[in-house]
Amino acid sequence: MWWENAVLYQVYPRSYADSNADGIGDLPGLISKLDHLEWLGVDAVWLSPTFPSPNHDWGYDVSDYYDVHPDFGTLADMEHLIVEAERRDLRVLLDLVPNHTSDVHPWFHDLEKRDWYLWRDPKPDGSPPNNWKSVFGGDAWTLDPASGQYYLHNFLPEQPDLDWWNEDVRVAFDDISRFWFERGVAGFRIDVAHALVKDRELRDNPSARPNESPAWARIGQWPKYNMGRPEAVDVHRRMRRVAREFDPERLLVGETYVLELEELMTYIVPDGLQLSMNLAFLHAPFVAAELAAVVALTEELMPDGATPLWHASSHDDPRFATRWCDGDEQAIRCALVALLSLRGACILFQGDEIGLEALPVPPERERDMVGRDACRTPMVWRDEEGAGFTEPGVEPWLPIGSRDRNVAGQRDDPDSILTLTRDLIAVRKHCRILHGAYEPVDAPPDVWAFRRESGAFIALNLGDAAVSLEGVEGAIVIGTDRTRDGEGLTGTLELRPREAVVASV
Ligand code: NOJ
Repeated sequence: MWWENAVLYQVYPRSYADSNADGIGDLPGLISKLDHLEWLGVDAVWLSPTFPSPNHDWGYDVSDYYDVHPDFGTLADMEHLIVEAERRDLRVLLDLVPNHTSDVHPWFHDLEKRDWYLWRDPKPDGSPPNNWKSVFGGDAWTLDPASGQYYLHNFLPEQPDLDWWNEDVRVAFDDISRFWFERGVAGFRIDVAHALVKDRELRDNPSARPNESPAWARIGQWPKYNMGRPEAVDVHRRMRRVAREFDPERLLVGETYVLELEELMTYIVPDGLQLSMNLAFLHAPFVAAELAAVVALTEELMPDGATPLWHASSHDDPRFATRWCDGDEQAIRCALVALLSLRGACILFQGDEIGLEALPVPPERERDMVGRDACRTPMVWRDEEGAGFTEPGVEPWLPIGSRDRNVAGQRDDPDSILTLTRDLIAVRKHCRILHGAYEPVDAPPDVWAFRRESGAFIALNLGDAAVSLEGVEGAIVIGTDRTRDGEGLTGTLELRPREAVVASV
């Protein structure tokens, strides 16, 4: 299937390209950039939510699943995007947000749909029905004084959770999926896919465990009962059945935000999501042994026939160019070699292809309530005021960072990060060496080395000292040092600090 080796490209529409000079990216802007994506060679674009929304959580609070946010354009623009993408052999994935709606969604105010949400009476002392905390902090329950009941929200109070035990909710999302699939949408990234179903008995969560991930340590509890329930998989299976009504079958990419790989595997079933995001990889430090360990364990645990999915940046997490690489050009190049050489599918977040860095946004320009603006700042297309994102003189919705790394400046430079990204994608696509199983290879400290079954040997030196690897016979296909492309290897592979190669052996 097409997604098994796919490069998915995440577009954050508000920050990609502004066609009407209002400082906000939009669908016509994205259409004008499809040539870039075709040139880059990615297989599909995933758009962060494009639905109408009051934007308390920047689109992840949907008020109408059947339309397009006016900031981005119209339904006709979306249809135009799908057609224009298809002309370039690009597929369009939308971001479906089924865990919760916006509190202004008409469903939330329809008394006949009250049981589409989780409304519960207070405890006798007036306190919330249980101890669940919101991911964004505070109680996961808000009291509605009019009815005297609390409603559940795993995220903001403006994002009431739907009750996925309710068959009517399931039917509503079958219909929403069909609506978009009929319009040619190739699939969905499913927001909060791991947490759609809550414990039926609403049992209290236990306290945070020792070594709890920072997110749960912060809220002081392990979200055992409001997230990660096994019944979510039944919902995925149902969504997959709808995806299979279409030809070609539509793709479901789960935001499976769990940090333990054993837990991730519970979502990887043959008739559920085709791809599940691997947050353990994204959160691993950029240290050879740690990355290698996450990948090796993922591969070991993955059921036969399943496809891993790798990503290192997103609209939620600081960009890898900063978080992993601290802006170091050679490290960024190594990270791209890793991402694009691993078995399976991967996601590039807009700007990853030029090594765009996270931009600390000053308090007076902050837009996100939990500090995720740094990775959401506008795409840098050119070195001019507005960065080619918007017209010079227009204030963009978030500030634009350094323009040193920009698409135009890198596009015709054979040694740029952008050219490396494009060439890695081409190697992956057109050179069979990047096919087949992942096989770890023993390597000196600071070096991560692996083979792909069909004959590729990939070595990344993430350390500060040069290293020599013995017993490597073949030729470098592509490396972070482009002057070495094509170099023959007759036994010893020397790697400088933060140098990586893909060799054919
Ligand atoms: C995950 C999304 O990626 C994030 O941006 C959002 O805040 C939460 N889900 C809630 O929808």
